[in-house]
Amino acid sequence: MTTKIIAHRGASKLAPENTMYAFELGYKFGAEGIETDVQLTKDNIPVLIHDETVKRTTNGNGYVKDYTFDELSKLDAGSWFSPEFHNARIISLEEFLIWIKPKELYINIELKNNKIDYKNLESIVYDMLKNHRLLERTTLSTFNPNSVRRLLKYQNNIEVAFLTSKKKPNLVEYAKNLGANALHVKYRLVNPQLIEQAHDNNMPVRVYTVNNYKPMMHCFNQDCDGIFTDVPYKALTFRKLFQFKKQL
Ligand code: G3P
Ligand code: MG
Repeated sequence: MTTKIIAHRGASKLAPENTMYAFELGYKFGAEGIETDVQLTKDNIPVLIHDETVKRTTNGNGYVKDYTFDELSKLDAGSWFSPEFHNARIISLEEFLIWIKPKELYINIELKNNKIDYKNLESIVYDMLKNHRLLERTTLSTFNPNSVRRLLKYQNNIEVAFLTSKKKPNLVEYAKNLGANALHVKYRLVNPQLIEQAHDNNMPVRVYTVNNYKPMMHCFNQDCDGIFTDVPYKALTFRKLFQFKKQL
């Protein structure tokens, strides 16, 4: 199998995470998919930002949930990264879907509802994906087990991944019982048993955040279905090297 290379928050090593710059660069540098994080505004607009607050990645302060989308989109979401990105803005999920639709990219939308359990986030995001006819190539993922349970009703129409960084003796079983049909795990959780068990249960396993040579090679070798990386261009080169070495 070929491990998919997924740009984590876009090509987030080269441009401010979760902005159009990072997505464009991920795409242009050959990523096969994009991972992004969704929070909900005061006026119920899903927006792409990793943290619950705007402090780290914009020139503003306070919680995403206390801003309207209009207010949020006035913030500078790029200067914190580097001054030349001062035009970067927080974008809505809808803008992202319009951008990605004509491109052949796998989509992973991470619902950031493990700290603030935004009301109806699952159905708002699901309905939007449905309207844009993007259910088929999208995985919804979340660290929140209750949210995975709430997504169960959509399981036949979209892939749902349980996202975790915690070691658990029967992780595959646990995720399956929640109603997930995919697993997104932190790198340190990867081992041959986990991958085998997941694959025996038809669950793809994708791994975050994999930025360096050794862990990348390990994931390729373990038949992981995908890696989330801030450096997709580097991952593509190493994957080519891995494939070359395999033929020796
Ligand atoms: O979805 C994989 C990964 O993004 C989860 O962690 O904190 O980078 O959103 P985080
Ligand atoms: Mg994420």
